[in-house]
Amino acid sequence: MSAGPDTPTRPASTDTAALVAAVQDALTGFFATRRDLVAELGPVFVSAAEALQDFVLRGGKRTRPAFAWTGWLGAGGDPAGPDAPAVLQACAALELVQACALIHDDIIDSSRTRRGFPTVHVDFERRHRERDWGGDPGHFGISVAILIGDLALAWADDMVAAAGLAPAAHARFAPVWAAMRTEVLGGQLLDIHGEAGADDSVEAALRINRYKTAAYTIERPLHLGAALADADPGLIAAYREFGTDIGIAFQLRDDLLGVFGDPAVTGKPSGDDLREGKRTVLVAEALRRADGTDPTAAKLLRTSLGTDLSPDEVTRLRAVITELGAVDDVERRITDLTDRGLSALDSSSATPEAKQRLRTMASAATKRVA
Ligand code: IPE
Ligand code: MG
Ligand code: MG
Repeated sequence: MSAGPDTPTRPASTDTAALVAAVQDALTGFFATRRDLVAELGPVFVSAAEALQDFVLRGGKRTRPAFAWTGWLGAGGDPAGPDAPAVLQACAALELVQACALIHDDIIDSSRTRRGFPTVHVDFERRHRERDWGGDPGHFGISVAILIGDLALAWADDMVAAAGLAPAAHARFAPVWAAMRTEVLGGQLLDIHGEAGADDSVEAALRINRYKTAAYTIERPLHLGAALADADPGLIAAYREFGTDIGIAFQLRDDLLGVFGDPAVTGKPSGDDLREGKRTVLVAEALRRADGTDPTAAKLLRTSLGTDLSPDEVTRLRAVITELGAVDDVERRITDLTDRGLSALDSSSATPEAKQRLRTMASAATKRVA
């Protein structure tokens, strides 16, 4: 929903489907406001902007706007009040930051598909090839996708600026937004250093999770919502504790699924994280244990991670990781982090409805699904 004069409905309060629809409306409305500017630059820019719009509107779970909105509600925001449309638009702008992060991440990770569609750089590589243009199609695709990702980040700021937040609310929002953007970039940077083998310690993997996932996905979105509602420091601290713990637990669950998950549930080929050589806490813990007790397992892990593993080799690695006790260790971490995060939430001053909703969101993010 845009905050413009044609805004037909009120933002959703607590219903997930209604919130997802309201975020979709806000994003659709924002793209409509860019149309004339885009058209002025001509058809090349129109197709790039359309690619971004398709990417953003086609989906995703709207996790970050949902945490931000719930953070605002939990700090006393009134979904029927006059501030609600502007708050919703600022929360929805997180999806444009996410578009930038994912479009660039897919270049970084050489990913060919995202959400069942070709990634943006692959899409433009194909367009280049089909039109028989000059130069290297792969390089062209990457260049276009870098710019489309940049456009998403620029438009995220524009969407916040156009939301119509009260100046005081915007002044509280801005530094949190800035911190979040820096943290996610830092997290990505740490991640690629991890994959390059610069540091395979558990601590390094946890730091990546903290910034790449927890801060960016839960902690800062909640903090943004709280800032908009002018929450007291105690609630902000509780949200941040909850967001950090649950965010890391969510990443640990994702790491387990990346190695042991059912492809029908995860949508990714089984063992892909092992082939990619992702330096997760699971892998770091397995390496740490192997280094201490089992040199053969350590050698096997180090020589096979990040290589083109056969299904049998994936099965073997899974067994080694499990036998080393790394899976139990990660499960324990998930339980401890979830308990700690939930207790921070429980003892906070968030509204009972928001607590209930955040508990449900935490459980969806951290539970075993496969
Ligand atoms: C996603 O990171 C990118 C960011 C959040 C910044 P990953 O590379 O770990 O995740 P997927 O599997 O591509 O979504
Ligand atoms: Mg990736
Ligand atoms: Mg990545």
